[in-house]
Amino acid sequence: MGDRSLLRVALCLTLHTSWMLSAATSGVPRAVDIVLPCMHVLMEDAGGRGGLGGMSFSREEVTLLIRNVTVTGEGGELDPITDYQPSKDTKTTIFQATVTSSPLPFADRLLHADCEGLDISCELSPLSPSGLLYITHIRLPEFSITMVTRTEPTNGMEEDPIGQDHLLSDKSIISMTVDLCLSSSTPSQLTPLSLDVSLNCELSGDPEGVQAEWHLQKEGKGERLFPEEGSRVTMEPGALSGRGDASLTIRAVRVQDEGTYICAVTLGEHRVHQILQLQVREPPRVTIIQTEGPELTLTCSSDCYYPLDVEFSWLLRGEQITHADPVTSSHRRNSDGTYNLSIHLRVPTPPTGALPDTYTCTVSHASLPEPITVTTSVPLPEVSSGALGYIISSLIVLITTAFMFRSRDGVREAREGGR
Ligand SMILES: *[C@@H]1O[C@H](CO)[C@@H](O)[C@H](O)[C@H]1NC(C)=O
Ligand SMILES: *[C@@H]1O[C@H](CO)[C@@H](O)[C@H](O)[C@H]1NC(C)=O
Repeated sequence: MGDRSLLRVALCLTLHTSWMLSAATSGVPRAVDIVLPCMHVLMEDAGGRGGLGGMSFSREEVTLLIRNVTVTGEGGELDPITDYQPSKDTKTTIFQATVTSSPLPFADRLLHADCEGLDISCELSPLSPSGLLYITHIRLPEFSITMVTRTEPTNGMEEDPIGQDHLLSDKSIISMTVDLCLSSSTPSQLTPLSLDVSLNCELSGDPEGVQAEWHLQKEGKGERLFPEEGSRVTMEPGALSGRGDASLTIRAVRVQDEGTYICAVTLGEHRVHQILQLQVREPPRVTIIQTEGPELTLTCSSDCYYPLDVEFSWLLRGEQITHADPVTSSHRRNSDGTYNLSIHLRVPTPPTGALPDTYTCTVSHASLPEPITVTTSVPLPEVSSGALGYIISSLIVLITTAFMFRSRDGVREAREGGR
């Protein structure tokens, strides 16, 4: 834990500059180091160690140091500019990945993410049994990056073959270069129905000879998607011919489109992927109707919303109702996958001479930042409503008369003005 907070300080202060022109100038590209706490995940044959189904996972905290990351930055001085030096008390293994060709996607945002306290998940594991290729998944709420890196076989590793056991020994530095990156700016999206949605998936590096495909997983089943020109689901044109953009577009989103999308890129014998979550959040339409009967019933309906969970409450003149028990209907599902739900409340007629009762129905739903409130007034009983009717019509007469006078004055003024 202490190591992690040290690391955060290190990341926020340690910026290495190789071609900086002026620290105070904004928009000037410069190369920096990015330091991230990461998890080294190893899946191995348990053998004698006894694991589940013969395989076991080991997880170990490591430090990921990404060197030569080009950022442009906006304003603000980047104060202490030094090379990243692993401190003496850094106990973790350092994986040092150098960006040599195409720039790292989302570099600026990644640089500031840790200082801003964003939730970063970083996992690193060997891609091939030889341990020459590593794969790193960096995931934040707003973007995700998968890097394939190649280790440099000679780097001070003594005779220890690069791969497994050295991790458990003393601190070591493993140097690698970044071969390619697959990234997404939409790792998890919420969308209302009927909108067009883009699931972003881009490859940087050498997209030559790359195959990209999409899979959708939901309710425990997976299917391959076949995006087609002119259909509802399309892929960026040129995705397979080396431009590196394999983004998927879904037109007029439906409830069925919700799920986990996998953008899988095959490069030779290697396969890397991005996992994207798409969730539908359709807000309810809320209405209240009053039904006359032996007693008056108020029905508050929440229609055409998704997903299922919704919360109602009734207020009388702004106060929670405790004396009456509202009855909730069962969910009704519409053909488009959305739901309807209503809640009924029987209300007493207010006594003669009282003020009309104002009832408010409040609906909370995952799609709503604030609950929706709808208010209705229960009409007064006949006698007083007759009286009220009289008052209202008198008011109307008064207002009309006043208005007529005013407009006649207005006409006169206009005539005088015209002369
Ligand atoms: C740093 O990255 C740039 C491209 O982003 C590349 O041209 C340059 O050679 C790299 N430098 C090193 C030392 O790898
Ligand atoms: C749900 O509510 C909408 C709008 O009020 C209505 O058109 C639709 O018929 C209702 N669906 C069901 C299944 O009751």
